[in-house]
Amino acid sequence: MAIVFEKVSFAYDERSLWRHSALEDVSLELETGVFAAVAGTTGSGKSTLLQHFNGILKPTGGKVRVLDFILQAEGKQPPLRELRRRVGLVFQFPEQQLFEDTVEKDLCFGPLNFGMGLEEARERASQALALVGLDDSFLPRNPFHLSGGQMRKVAIASVLAMDPDIIALDEPTATLDPQSRAELAGLLSRLQREQGKTVIVVTHRMEEMLPYVDTWIVMKGGTKVFQGSPAELVRESGRLERECGLAVPACITTWNQVAARFGLEHEEPCLTPEKLAERVVRLLEGHPQGNKREGGG
Ligand SMILES: Nc1ncnc2c1ncn2[C@@H]1O[C@H](COP(=O)(O)OP(=O)(O)OP(=O)(O)O)[C@@H](O)[C@H]1O
Ligand SMILES: [Mg+2]
Repeated sequence: MAIVFEKVSFAYDERSLWRHSALEDVSLELETGVFAAVAGTTGSGKSTLLQHFNGILKPTGGKVRVLDFILQAEGKQPPLRELRRRVGLVFQFPEQQLFEDTVEKDLCFGPLNFGMGLEEARERASQALALVGLDDSFLPRNPFHLSGGQMRKVAIASVLAMDPDIIALDEPTATLDPQSRAELAGLLSRLQREQGKTVIVVTHRMEEMLPYVDTWIVMKGGTKVFQGSPAELVRESGRLERECGLAVPACITTWNQVAARFGLEHEEPCLTPEKLAERVVRLLEGHPQGNKREGGG
């Protein structure tokens, strides 16, 4: 397992009058190499959850295990430097990630900090930048003079430059244009499929990640109210929408309507507009068995 939470609780300002419980009794397991996504309304605890993955936050109750590192309220802290080399976290707000006066320095910071030589770090910086669709002309620029979307891409590249085993991203597509959003979802999927990375994405736009995700987590009021496969998410979507205010993608609601109308409840759901349209066309043509039942992707 890449990540295991055992009855994890977390409270901000634990020892003060302003104590605020943000996670309560959260247990979860994420297998190595999985593509996971975390959804839930604003304030439900998604960012708090993510910040436990590389020890930025430490549970105030229960136990977090990430790779071989154990984080718990009491006891010895694991070596956070090594944990952070292996688990990259892209913050919800890119300004929190960047602090140098050039993009190149920001991208080289992690690799240099973890012992890489300058030339190799520069090479990594350039490669990471290319992965997010920016060319080397950005290297000398001040990250704080970039557009919101460019800054977001640099923040993502600064994590990719460290080549971590686990990549956790907090709403990485916010402020990106539609093409960049689709490209980023594709890139994350490739990193997972081709390089065996474990990828966890917090998203308010579930439809973007829908074709790629193996396991969905839904948070509400600091608790985990759902974890399951896309097919299970489809089955539970009505309840999650009613009880948690989840913004269920149109593809899922439409699939459920089509499935109910044609008795396809036991079929693998079609989770992209293209696959859904294709399936409906086959149904209308009178070939209800014509679905090739391809996996999502
Ligand atoms: N630094 C902090 N100090 C005190 N309370 C906080 C702090 N950060 C978050 N909280 C509170 O903890 C709860 C969970 O916040 P969190 O940021 O994890 O939610 P989220 O699901 O990521 O929300 P969003 O979708 O708006 O990003 C909220 O009630 C929030 O007000
Ligand atoms: Mg958040």
